[in-house]
Amino acid sequence: MQFRLLCASLIGAGSLVFSSSAFAWGPYGHAIVADIAQERLTPQAQKAATALLALENHQTLDQVASWPDTIGHVPKKKGGAPETLKWHYVDIDVSHPAYDQARDCPDHVCVVEKLPEEIKILADTHASAQDRLTALKWVVHLVGDIHQPLHAAERNKDMGGNAIRLTYFGDNANGHMNLHSLWDEGVIDHEADLHVGPFYSIDASRAKKEADRLGALITPDETKYWVQDLDGDDVYNATVDWADESHSLARSVAYGALPANKGADIGKDYTALTWPIMELRLEQAGVRLAAVLNTALNGG
Ligand code: ADE
Ligand code: ZN
Ligand code: ZN
Repeated sequence: MQFRLLCASLIGAGSLVFSSSAFAWGPYGHAIVADIAQERLTPQAQKAATALLALENHQTLDQVASWPDTIGHVPKKKGGAPETLKWHYVDIDVSHPAYDQARDCPDHVCVVEKLPEEIKILADTHASAQDRLTALKWVVHLVGDIHQPLHAAERNKDMGGNAIRLTYFGDNANGHMNLHSLWDEGVIDHEADLHVGPFYSIDASRAKKEADRLGALITPDETKYWVQDLDGDDVYNATVDWADESHSLARSVAYGALPANKGADIGKDYTALTWPIMELRLEQAGVRLAAVLNTALNGG
């Protein structure tokens, strides 16, 4: 992947290499979540979102969904991390059953704490339009990230599986394939035939098509059930729930379904178990993003 090679060469040998896959669902995952949400916005939220997006000549949510992965990619100094890197995930060790703020996010810099903060800015009609647009970009992105199981789990300090190198159907992506990147984009790429292009580029119409396919699978009962934890206006409790769901799926599926033999190639069996979970998480993220935006933007 061109983008990663660029990152790697800019950062240089001997330092930590931050690649796009360390941050997020890949750009297709984020665009799919945004597209599912876009279709479910109330007319009022749609109007408010469109007005904010227009500040930067954008029309739709998918156009800004991966923006947080494009900022601060190259650490300021060798080995340093971009300031917002930790906003994208929370490392909850698999030995723990659920999120604990004091233990897992003591400095309040992780996806569980940042997402509600950004939702608050987005909903604040006294905040500047530019600040609200930036918040909108973060919200669209982080609702996606928090639904990626490996963004809420780690095992043996493996950084959400980033440290677990593997081959997928015999491919090691020039040494860049790892358990985390498999969940961010490898399986989506394989199952939905969505290949990320140079410089993180995607075909928006193909993402939309996949979003429409997934969107059509969502029943009204599911929608109702999935947004239940947003009732009562407490976005913070809902984000904790979503992280806990992700953590649980990481334990049972992302890590749990790995072959016992560590060097074994990951392929058909693992994909059959994990792709339905990824589809579910993309659907849930899309439905919940719409619900969050419909509330946050209902005042204009
Ligand atoms: N870096 C460290 N832990 C991570 C995680 N769980 N997800 C993504 N990037 C990480
Ligand atoms: Zn991210
Ligand atoms: Zn990721």
